[in-house]
Amino acid sequence: MCQYLPKQSTMREWWVQVGLLCIPLMAVYVHMPPPKLSFAVRRWQHAGKTFTFRGNKIFYIDTPGTLGNTDIVLLLHGYPASSYDWSKIWHQLTQHFIRVIALDFLGFGLSDKPLPHNYSIFEQASVVEALVVELGLANQRINLVAHDYGDTVALELVYRRDQNRTGHLNIKSLCLSNGGLFPEVNYPRLLQRLLKDSTYLAPVLLRIGNYMFFNNGMREVFGPYTKPTNAELWNMWVSIRYNDGHLVLDSLLQYINQRIKHRERWVGALTTTSVPLHLIYGPMDPVNPHPEFIELYKKLVKRSTVTVLNEYIGHYPQLEDPIGFLAAYLKFIHSF
Ligand SMILES: *[C@@H]1O[C@H](CO)[C@@H](O)[C@H](O)[C@H]1NC(C)=O
Ligand SMILES: *[C@@H]1O[C@H](CO)[C@@H](O)[C@H](O)[C@H]1NC(C)=O
Repeated sequence: MCQYLPKQSTMREWWVQVGLLCIPLMAVYVHMPPPKLSFAVRRWQHAGKTFTFRGNKIFYIDTPGTLGNTDIVLLLHGYPASSYDWSKIWHQLTQHFIRVIALDFLGFGLSDKPLPHNYSIFEQASVVEALVVELGLANQRINLVAHDYGDTVALELVYRRDQNRTGHLNIKSLCLSNGGLFPEVNYPRLLQRLLKDSTYLAPVLLRIGNYMFFNNGMREVFGPYTKPTNAELWNMWVSIRYNDGHLVLDSLLQYINQRIKHRERWVGALTTTSVPLHLIYGPMDPVNPHPEFIELYKKLVKRSTVTVLNEYIGHYPQLEDPIGFLAAYLKFIHSF
């Protein structure tokens, strides 16, 4: 017996040592400096500007298009990414519009990410209205293109327009794409559900959440033949980490609860508005699955035209099939 005692206590000490060592390592990891912006994202940043909304800086890009066009297009990105999501169709859009504009919502991309902050779709709609005033376009008719989270912001903008609220956007048309328009057929990813609902787990997950974690989660929502490259995923990740954005991902995710709470307001706006509507849909989308989503959309939004892309296109149509996305969008724009 005796001869085992020292050994056991050495063992115990060994584990304690490892445990103690883990604490500073964890601390270093959690406070690890954010990765540097990639070359592509830095170039995007240099092409844009910022304006101040209620004390926070909002990043936007406003590119002059080709003379001879009269239409303006404003693009609203999804969760958890940024205006960079539109980079693959940007150049082509400038050939068909007089101005191409996109912003990073508060808490996303290259914009400020205040913490603590109660992020909401209503506030993001106000950010868009403020940007339009900032650019001197308050009286201009604007074509909106939206994806995912941006779809819900767009519906709030449509609601305000239809209610003739002060400061509302003068919306000429709206093109939606893969987004949780209907809470009843929307299936957020497990990680999204954990982050949005668990007060205690979320801060831990966010701090240990790393690129591998993000990479796997993101790849899942793309179609099998159009997965993003590592460079593309890295561009998304550095934009999220910029300004410690990984720490606000759970607060931003409250939009899923807001969609449920305000379903009547937003689905109501979608089904009753007179704004010309189009939907571009990648059907292999685990978040808004085929055919439930599209069947419900067609049933409820009778006035809208619809483009269903190739059966293998997933949740990110503008990245997975930029040519198909653009063709569908231009056809819509020329139809009214
Ligand atoms: C967020 O909302 C909660 C509940 O309404 C409130 O108690 C809290 O002070 C708000 N936080 C911030 C930073 O505004
Ligand atoms: C919308 O509101 C503005 C200002 O409040 C008012 O002048 C205008 O008549 C309203 N338009 C409609 C269609 O209600």
